[in-house]
Amino acid sequence: MDPSARKRKAAEASLEFIQPGMIVGVGTGSTVNFLIELLSAVRERIDRLVSSSAETSVLLKKHGFEVSTLNEVGDVDVYIDGADEANKHLQLVKGGGGALTREKVLAGAARRFVCIIDESKLVGMLGAFPLPIEVLPMAQEFVTRKLLKLRGHPVWREGVVTDNGNHILDVRDLMISNPMEMESRLNQIPGVLTVGIFAQRPADVLLIGGDTGVREMRI
Ligand code: A5P
Repeated sequence: MDPSARKRKAAEASLEFIQPGMIVGVGTGSTVNFLIELLSAVRERIDRLVSSSAETSVLLKKHGFEVSTLNEVGDVDVYIDGADEANKHLQLVKGGGGALTREKVLAGAARRFVCIIDESKLVGMLGAFPLPIEVLPMAQEFVTRKLLKLRGHPVWREGVVTDNGNHILDVRDLMISNPMEMESRLNQIPGVLTVGIFAQRPADVLLIGGDTGVREMRI
């Protein structure tokens, strides 16, 4: 089975977490795009939708959904999103699609965070996937130097401007053996807006699409 079919299975399995009257947060990426296709089937259950990116908002509107802002809805009942890596503690690396800041806000505002991945994303230690960090453009070189001191190798995602008008550094070779500590440490570098480690607010439920079905992990 190809990875897309596994992603689709995980997305399908997440629909049961959308209960009648819920405010639903929708993430960003190819796995979530399957979810967006499937959302029409549970349209009646959804009270309001909140989106984590301009890209997702466009797709939701194309499927006939109205998109509310987080400020309008208050808290989110369930937030469903993909990840680039996940470990057994449901800590994640996210931001491959560049939407990490709004994703982190929605995950933080959510009563329940359901993460949907294909099985290739489940890892023993986070960090093989280059860690995305959103930085203020004027601080890019300063943050780069700080990351080099931590033995990371940041590469500017050239030509990409986030929905918030910032730049992305993809950092290779960071040993993320303690994700909570690394998230805190990187967050403290001035000019860093968002670190793609989701450890302080991990997922509550991980749905892993594989060849034989969907495996569920919870904290
Ligand atoms: C978007 O910025 C990311 O956090 C995505 O959630 C992540 O890259 C997963 O993307 P795919 O579902 O496309 O693998």
